[in-house]
Amino acid sequence: MATDGKFYVTTPIYYVNDKPHIGHAYTTILADVLARYHREKKEATFFLTGTDEHGQKVQQAARERGIDPKSHCDEMVIYFKKAWQRLEISHDRFIRTTDSYHIKVVQQVLQDLYDKGEIYASEYGGYYCVGCERFLTNKEMEEGSGKCPQHDKEPEYIKEKNYFFRMSAYQQWLIDYINHHPTFIQPEHRKNEVLGFLKQPLNDLCISRPKSRLSWGIELPFNSDYVTYVWFDALLNYVTGIGYKQSPEQFDQWWPADYHLIGKDIVTTHCVYWPTMMKAMGIPLPKTIFAHGWWMMDQAKMSKSLRNIVSPLDLIDLYGVDSVRYYLIRDMVLGQDANFSEELFIERYNAELANDFGNLASRIATLIHKNYNSAIPQPMQLNSDDQYMIDQACHLPGKVHRRIDQLDLNKASDAIITFIRAINKYMEIRKPWKLVKQDNQETGTVLYIAAEGLRIAARLLHPIMPGKINTLLQNLPIDESVKDKFSWGLLQSGQKLGEFKNLFPRIKPKQSPPPKTKEKPPKMEKETQLSIDQFAKLKLLTAKVLAAETVPKTKKLVKLQIDTGEDQRQIVAGIAPHYEPESLVGKIIIVVANLKPVKIRGIESQGMLLAAQNDQQLTLLTTLDEIDAGARVS
Ligand code: MSP
Repeated sequence: MATDGKFYVTTPIYYVNDKPHIGHAYTTILADVLARYHREKKEATFFLTGTDEHGQKVQQAARERGIDPKSHCDEMVIYFKKAWQRLEISHDRFIRTTDSYHIKVVQQVLQDLYDKGEIYASEYGGYYCVGCERFLTNKEMEEGSGKCPQHDKEPEYIKEKNYFFRMSAYQQWLIDYINHHPTFIQPEHRKNEVLGFLKQPLNDLCISRPKSRLSWGIELPFNSDYVTYVWFDALLNYVTGIGYKQSPEQFDQWWPADYHLIGKDIVTTHCVYWPTMMKAMGIPLPKTIFAHGWWMMDQAKMSKSLRNIVSPLDLIDLYGVDSVRYYLIRDMVLGQDANFSEELFIERYNAELANDFGNLASRIATLIHKNYNSAIPQPMQLNSDDQYMIDQACHLPGKVHRRIDQLDLNKASDAIITFIRAINKYMEIRKPWKLVKQDNQETGTVLYIAAEGLRIAARLLHPIMPGKINTLLQNLPIDESVKDKFSWGLLQSGQKLGEFKNLFPRIKPKQSPPPKTKEKPPKMEKETQLSIDQFAKLKLLTAKVLAAETVPKTKKLVKLQIDTGEDQRQIVAGIAPHYEPESLVGKIIIVVANLKPVKIRGIESQGMLLAAQNDQQLTLLTTLDEIDAGARVS
């Protein structure tokens, strides 16, 4: 969180041996949402991203293509720049480690550290993993039984003269620093992982590669037979990208960074190498390094080598940029892994964007256009439902901002969608489409409250879906000077509402499994354990039974008409042996509201009710205290 009125956020810089996939896109979108959020709060904001272009991986990729590394980088970087453009990423600078200013400053830092005796020459032998671009520790070798535990590949044994950074000298200092700065490494379990790593003696860091082995890198200023180790070069982008040793004013304005956002596989380099480098350079440390989990496909990390990647651009072509940004932010609990599935993507889109949000917006607009000549009505006398809705709207921005400040974007977006559902429910209770036939003023109040609630929710979603939300907001009349504000009552009564039909058209659910999913035989598991996230996908609601009757010619089936708070629907359940249908009318039951409709004996059932059952008994689930239909059960 920015506490000093400025906000500086970074993503890792991506290797150009690969085109971007949604794992890369995720960190970049996350940083973008944060940057947009802080800019909207009128904080001076700087967002840095870019590409990591040196090292063995890139040299190898270029060699495989039969071209020189720089030409390879120049071609590959375009994929990243284009992808970020299409994803509407609003970075302030895109750094390439082959940029001349970066190379110059890396060499200056190396020279300074060499002059101070922080870097020395020595002979070293060790196991080097090309995938990690680093020597493995003894512990890692043990863990992987001689292979790199991350890449499952045998590392190469290398012995040669090299240059070393005195990282070991900072071991105790780093442990103390981490302990005294509890928010430096987040989430907590990553901090503990780093402290665990620091329990073994820390070696000095080999920061050079002889050109005879690797020529693609930044030449050491004190020995032209060597290039710089790619991580030493890459980590420095976070400071060279904001003018370190080039523009002191710019550097002082942004440093230290508020967040380095990274994936969980690059924690050691960021939380051990980088802090000790900064300590030796004499600059303060970033406020927080936050490691998120991986996007997985069928339980495996999405990566080029496993050929299970999903391109963000393919998704955008199919579903549009805003929904891709929304899904990625909405479906990953920061710090945990998330499973990508196109089916879940479509489900989430249809339920939350097309249904909850899009339909609400069209409904409000249609009623205002039809009954109020397109002018936003004037709110008049409030009843308790109106006041409750306004109170919720007033509390929402604070709640959402707190979540964003804790980097909990998943919960922030959840709070907004829950609020949008509450507006839907409010509309169902107040029924402006009926009310308008009796009382034009009271209906106006309801529509004003719904529209203003929608505006506040939309404003909060703006950093996540800037494109669609702009379309909506541009059509809601509001004074230019307060258009960024979240306070209640800014929507201008009497002013014209524009058109925003069908913001999120429904997507037809896929019949066949998504094309990129690799088929795997189902695993035999003793008992499937669900993550909280998976559980949260179940939409359990309280519902009121409006009518119930036995299905003719059946002994067991009852057809129930229920009000879920969001809609009225029909479900069929095998409860006739246990209940007189009439006795259920008026009762509150619990239903699974997001099941695909099915036909039972030719009758459509749009959901399922919950019941507890053993050999002798079946009893329907209800709530301990009285509660309206439409409450979420979790
Ligand atoms: N070049 C280094 C970073 C240097 S930063 C000074 C690097 N590059 S990378 O292209 O391999 O990975 C960049 C980021 O993408 C890492 O944070 C990594 O965790 C992230 N991801 C790569 N695959 C991923 C998923 N499947 N899911 C989420 N993020 C993952 O490492």
